[in-house]
Amino acid sequence: MERKKVALITGSTGGIGTALCKRLNQEGYIVVGNSRCNDKALATKNALKLQGCNIHMVQGDVSDFESVARMIKSIERDIGPIDILINNAGITRDARFTKMNKEDWDEVMNINLTGVFNCTRQVIDSMIERGYGRIINISSVNGQKGQFGQTNYSAAKAGLHGFTKSLALEVAKHGITVNTISPGYIGTEMVMAVPEKLREQIVAQIPVGRLGHIEEVAEAVVYLISDQSSFMTGSNLSINGGQHMY
Ligand code: CAA
Repeated sequence: MERKKVALITGSTGGIGTALCKRLNQEGYIVVGNSRCNDKALATKNALKLQGCNIHMVQGDVSDFESVARMIKSIERDIGPIDILINNAGITRDARFTKMNKEDWDEVMNINLTGVFNCTRQVIDSMIERGYGRIINISSVNGQKGQFGQTNYSAAKAGLHGFTKSLALEVAKHGITVNTISPGYIGTEMVMAVPEKLREQIVAQIPVGRLGHIEEVAEAVVYLISDQSSFMTGSNLSINGGQHMY
């Protein structure tokens, strides 16, 4: 019998990450969620359990290469080799560039971009060895179009497109696909943290006339990790209600 595939989803205590854990569990994958905070990890695991989802949760800071190395080793030892990596961990530290400090810049770059290097670097050799892998990088509409107040976030999210396309070229012959998903404004905690008045202005710029649902992103992930998508690599799926067509 074929071994169930193991999927690691980074940053899985946030809106999109938690939804991904739930959806992939329903699809029959062995799901490993991640958080840098043990308490949050446990709370998410328990909340999902109440909804009938049994997932593993591991602690690890994606911005710290050694922490990621320890986390991946423990997953491989206790659960199995990682077949699917969803680089989802991300934060915002919004401020006009003239008010942005070095800490806001570094923190966003270290988690949103270097975190993707750290996690991917730790799983790629094993994927190459086994001749199979699915890597999905969660970017953002704001990495495509730019956003007032987000020079740090937009730069990091734009960087993911270059990363995706270059790595896709390098690993295509090993049965590994690498793709990006660029969600628009989805009704997550991160977006709800934008002041209400600004949020209303944002929704007014979305032709579909509403924020996206996290499930709408999860469905795209299900497709991109399926065997049906094996001819799709180095690409980007925009899920933004028509806010930016690119
Ligand atoms: N376009 C043009 N001007 C803008 C603007 C915009 N979108 N937003 C703010 N401004 C202007 C204001 O009109 C004001 O101008 P004046 O000084 O001439 O009056 C000025 O910027 C105010 O800026 P301040 O630096 O004084 O600071 P602030 O406290 O108003 O905050 C901000 C600025 C942090 C950028 C705030 O506007 C903000 O939070 N914007 C939302 C940014 C955003 O959309 N973030 C997305 C978060 S969700 C996410 O990232 C998920 C995803 O992937 C989609």
